[in-house]
Amino acid sequence: MAAPLDPALLPDTAALEEDDVRVGGVSLRALAEEFGTPVFVYDEATLRARARAARAAFDEGVAYASKAFLCGAMARLAVDEGLDLDVATGGELDLALRAGVPASRLVLHGNNKSPAELERAIAVGVRRVVVDGFDEIARLADLVPPRGVDVLLRVTPGVEAHTHEFVRTGQEDSKFGVSISTGDAARAWRALTDIPGVRLRGLHCHIGSQIFEFDGYRAALEVVGSFLAGRDLDELCVGGGLGVAYVSDERAPAIAEWGAAIRAGAHAAGIAAATRLTAEPGRAIVAQAGLTLYRAGTRKVTSARTYLAVDGGMSDNPRPVLYGSGYEAFDVARPREERPQALRLVGKHCESGDVIVDEAWLPDATGVGDLVATPVTGAYGYAMASTYNRVPRPPVVFVADGRARPVVRRETFDDLARLEVEP
Ligand code: LLP
Repeated sequence: MAAPLDPALLPDTAALEEDDVRVGGVSLRALAEEFGTPVFVYDEATLRARARAARAAFDEGVAYASKAFLCGAMARLAVDEGLDLDVATGGELDLALRAGVPASRLVLHGNNKSPAELERAIAVGVRRVVVDGFDEIARLADLVPPRGVDVLLRVTPGVEAHTHEFVRTGQEDSKFGVSISTGDAARAWRALTDIPGVRLRGLHCHIGSQIFEFDGYRAALEVVGSFLAGRDLDELCVGGGLGVAYVSDERAPAIAEWGAAIRAGAHAAGIAAATRLTAEPGRAIVAQAGLTLYRAGTRKVTSARTYLAVDGGMSDNPRPVLYGSGYEAFDVARPREERPQALRLVGKHCESGDVIVDEAWLPDATGVGDLVATPVTGAYGYAMASTYNRVPRPPVVFVADGRARPVVRRETFDDLARLEVEP
């Protein structure tokens, strides 16, 4: 018998009523009526609160990792809250520029930046290019404009973060960055400082994602600290990675605790107090602000279990399939009820792996026709959405102060058909 949903998983403004849930003062049932399902709903207040917490924790040196969730409205909100934006591809760069983000607020990442991506980023004048390896250094040498370019060097500290192997990046065996222990980081350093116009502003060291314990960061800072001894730099970016709670029994550290741990770790590692400590959180800013509303369409009882199928699935949330990530579910019209019914919440895609919640606890009455929501889907849900089975991607709606504002419309069959090349 599972307890009612833990409101700690919901956006900050969520209010559980008898037969509805309000977020940002807006009824989720009304939202589903107006925009249809599935739909991603984001609470602006939560987004802004997390952005502010990050700024406070890192002395204003924060670039929001836009890969976690990017659309024009999100880019503008991040900048409005004083964050820069980390873009990892030409596509993210393009969206940010279209949204009106000044290039001086953008940081370009990527382990395989194409010449075109580098050229555009440099031409528009991004704030930083995070250099990832020797091929890129060679490419960069040909592209430095007369006004020069500011770069960070991404290093690999040889540290294993305690997280899923797909989202670990600090270990030696990684496609990202240059290793400190092999001497590559020192060689890359020299190569960069040899290129006229390249200003090496600092190091970048991202050890992974969905991290709950700070020992990996501390270990990475030790390695970076030794490397930095005798070298003078303005900035050390620790990347992102702070974990969030997805299910009731998880507890994630607050952004402020993360910032404090990084400062303490840098101090302990002997990193000069003059070195600016910056960060690039993605998930910690957007995950809890978002939730997904689905409509249940079929309920099937097998000898093994009961399946409840909703109108989305692995196309709007591939994380359970990719990483085995857990989620909770709740019945929007019965948010305070006990949840004794264990169901496998599945999507509408043509494969058995299309599972959203392996064992979703829901009220006994929940079934076909009901509105079922999964909280904490704000990060890497819409961002990784696909059109598998030609299921159009859901819309994104922002809510604040009792108002709902669509910021990305629902994809249509026409949108999908537009890519066909006519014979
Ligand atoms: N900075 C760099 C260089 C990164 O590679 C990442 C994430 C971040 C910052 C932001 O990390 P965050 O604060 O969001 O953990 N799709 C996976 C996560 C992949 C993360 C990739 N890089 C997931 O759904 O869990």
